[in-house]
Amino acid sequence: MSVDSQTWEGVPLSQLFPEEKLGWTGYIEWEDKPDRKKIAQAILKTKKFTPSPEFQLEPLPKTNPILIGYRWKEYHEALGLRSIVDFSWETVQKEKPGMIHVLDFPYNGETPRAALLEGKLTDNMYHFVRNHGGVPDIDEDAFELEIGGLVNQPIKLSMKDLKDPNKFPQITATVTLQCSGTRRIEQIQEYPGEGDELIQAPWGEGAIGTAVYRGVPLKTVLKRACGGLLPEAKHVELIGADTYFKKGNVYNYAVSVPTRKMRMKEEVILAWEMNGEPLPKIHGFPLRAVVTGIIGARSTKWLYKINALEEPSLGPVQAQEYIYFTSQIGKQNAKYSNGFSIQNMPVSSAIIFPQDKEVIIHDGSIELRGWAYSGGGNWPERVEVSPDGGHVWYAVDQDNMTEKHYHAWRLWKISVPVDAEGWIEVCVRTWDSSCNTEPTFVRSAWNWDLHVTSSAHRIKLYSVNTTRPATAQRLAAFAAHGQSFTPITGPTKWTVESTEDFLAEMRRHPRDPDN
Ligand code: MTE
Repeated sequence: MSVDSQTWEGVPLSQLFPEEKLGWTGYIEWEDKPDRKKIAQAILKTKKFTPSPEFQLEPLPKTNPILIGYRWKEYHEALGLRSIVDFSWETVQKEKPGMIHVLDFPYNGETPRAALLEGKLTDNMYHFVRNHGGVPDIDEDAFELEIGGLVNQPIKLSMKDLKDPNKFPQITATVTLQCSGTRRIEQIQEYPGEGDELIQAPWGEGAIGTAVYRGVPLKTVLKRACGGLLPEAKHVELIGADTYFKKGNVYNYAVSVPTRKMRMKEEVILAWEMNGEPLPKIHGFPLRAVVTGIIGARSTKWLYKINALEEPSLGPVQAQEYIYFTSQIGKQNAKYSNGFSIQNMPVSSAIIFPQDKEVIIHDGSIELRGWAYSGGGNWPERVEVSPDGGHVWYAVDQDNMTEKHYHAWRLWKISVPVDAEGWIEVCVRTWDSSCNTEPTFVRSAWNWDLHVTSSAHRIKLYSVNTTRPATAQRLAAFAAHGQSFTPITGPTKWTVESTEDFLAEMRRHPRDPDN
């Protein structure tokens, strides 16, 4: 059905859900239009939607995109908003072709492992993406940011205003954004959890990235442009221009942060530049919030409205999601109020190379590389790696860690001694500047919504130590037979011991006792 022919009670959907602002494509105002929300709700009630994909009790497909967002595409189609879906995927292909596409719509893309450790800053092309809706297409010259609520002077600012250094002094900051779902796959593999409509993406270690952002501190804008906050303002709500669906209702993306978050230097930045380039569309062009040290969800993209509030935002992303439950809370008893809201990110780390289940042929030591991060203005002080599953730990030399920042990760590398052969379990844990460290096992911090997998990251490696003469000989034999040692599960094609040698051994050490 063409969009123009879609109607509700005789009225074209394009009239009911119009793109009202010139130069703003893919943006529908919902929060100021309760009647519009009601019509959308009524339409959604009349339709049936494909269930969200099951991937916790069943294996993840090995395709790329891994998961397909049929349900969310259908939500948009039901309201005549198919063009948002199409534009979003076009943007992915233009801006993010090389990603691990975890979900095609709303787009969730994970950084491939090599790009993750390419350098302290993640290339914009490869920075992870977590979207709850489509990508709006907003013309910078037509853009305006609206600031209202509990401020002395509500105001609208153009990008020209915001970028004018005489009005607002600019800052740059190196900031790691981390989705609280980073490494969720480890929790899923232990125990499945909440299956939300907008899937709890099965992220590996790549839902984290670091960039230098340029912009202006929100506190300066509030002070200079709005004459400051009213005394009762305790939270600032950050609203994005994308459309979000939840349980048959429709919203603009809205979250909030406590006003105290703006007191420390550079805590909330209104940013337009990422690694020296204009924000890519998929990362929020023309303007996004970058809230340092805190769960990525608060860094609203396509930020067009800010409200100072007395209480936290009631937007579902703030009030109903990104909640941390304790282990006995789940489907049987979870409420929005009996979990706590995830804010500062805890200390966490990951081994990126080698990868889980790799065969490592080495000469007594194995080199490992990865990232370490802590939120809330803490920084990774010490990274430790254990080659025996968590008994003996080796500290990473400071010279092998990238420089410290208040709000960014440190990449690290280490060579750890490994004598053992066969399957070994290697793990990493980090201590931050407040002496916090990571729980040893995933289950210690498992939670129903599967957030914040901050336990020591653990991988299994197959160790082949060539300093052992028998091992060196066996590898030489593989080479002589022209056979690859890997995969280790492949059958060895020749007889590994002659009958003579075998019998000599058996006679020296018979298999059975004599009596
Ligand atoms: N802002 C809007 N408007 N819409 C969104 O879906 N996703 C949030 C946040 N800001 C989101 C948003 C989440 S959950 C995360 S983790 C970060 O953006 C990810 O930022 P990135 O996609 O630029 O990496």
